Amino acid sequence: MSEPLIIGIESSCDETGIGIVRGRELLANEVASSVDLHVRFGGVVPEVASRAHLSAIIPTLRRAAETADVDLAEVDAVAVTAGPGLMGALLVGISAAKALAAYLDKPLYGVNHLVGHVAVDLLDHGELPMPSTALLVSGGHTSLLHVEDIATDIVEVGSTIDDAAGEAYDKVARLLGLSYPGGPVIDRIAADGDPRAIRFPRGLTARHDLVEHRFDFSFSGLKTAVARWVEQRRLDGLDVPVADVAASFQEAVCDVLTSKAVDAAQHHGTGTILLGGGVAANSRLRTLLEERANAVGIELRRPRPGLCTDNGAMIAAVGSEVVRAGLAPSPMDFGGHSSLPV
Ligand code: KG4
Ligand code: ZN
Repeated sequence: MSEPLIIGIESSCDETGIGIVRGRELLANEVASSVDLHVRFGGVVPEVASRAHLSAIIPTLRRAAETADVDLAEVDAVAVTAGPGLMGALLVGISAAKALAAYLDKPLYGVNHLVGHVAVDLLDHGELPMPSTALLVSGGHTSLLHVEDIATDIVEVGSTIDDAAGEAYDKVARLLGLSYPGGPVIDRIAADGDPRAIRFPRGLTARHDLVEHRFDFSFSGLKTAVARWVEQRRLDGLDVPVADVAASFQEAVCDVLTSKAVDAAQHHGTGTILLGGGVAANSRLRTLLEERANAVGIELRRPRPGLCTDNGAMIAAVGSEVVRAGLAPSPMDFGGHSSLPV
């Protein structure tokens, strides 16, 4: 069989993404983001995101078909994010995918968004050495996955028990009076600060927190510690050294993410760590992870920035792998799952 032509639809958060792949070749990746609509709220508003998906989905689909220069009738299968994500947002993509698959009379695959963040790397770097460890960090999720086979065997070995790492960046940026999304702003400002100026807590790293074989994260205590520190400075009538706070906060986040990722990889005997999600753009996270991984002989892989943030190509990439693996399509009555496990 020639390589399958797959269309992927993503709508789990604030990006409406349509991707088209042939096997592991990327043909189109069109994304319409509603991020600007959420700026004044300092975070993604689910209702606003759902409405934005409704108006963006068909124009984005048309653009992707044009870019890929394919006739949708030639598509072999449709893949769509079934979860995890915001329920109302997921349902827009799922409904569009069902309509498209039914009209084209092609199989439909409801796939996991986190698996998409792993599979998308195949479009950039080809075969992923197995087993691998994936560190996925964004505004909506923070997970460590043990990957034996992209289509059939991925196990979550850690996740956040409260805030996602990107969410912590956004909340800390807000309390420092910086704009949304806060990650890129803190990343930039931190370059002028001293990461050792303030010792902020590293969540879930105390001996009694460590549960065997789990590599979970917690960022809400860190956020509260930053808020208290800043509040105390203000009460004392002192200026808040924003660059030092940003750098020290960033160091706490990146220290925990990288040490747990390397620990998980070593525990499971993997030689590769794959970094994905919007926070993968963070400069300190990349250098520290590379440094710590390379020190123990582990290779780091990271898809290009446009494929790290949420997009449709990552969902098409999963579709391509499950079609290749000969897995059965999803039943036409499947729904969205806001906390779908991998
Ligand atoms: O993957 P993404 O575009 O959307 C989802 O949240 O699913 O990730 C967005 C998140 C935001 O929280 C944003 O602040 C964070 O990624 N982010 C960063 C950086 N660029 C984006 N966080 C830290 N450093 C960055 N350079
Ligand atoms: Zn994501």
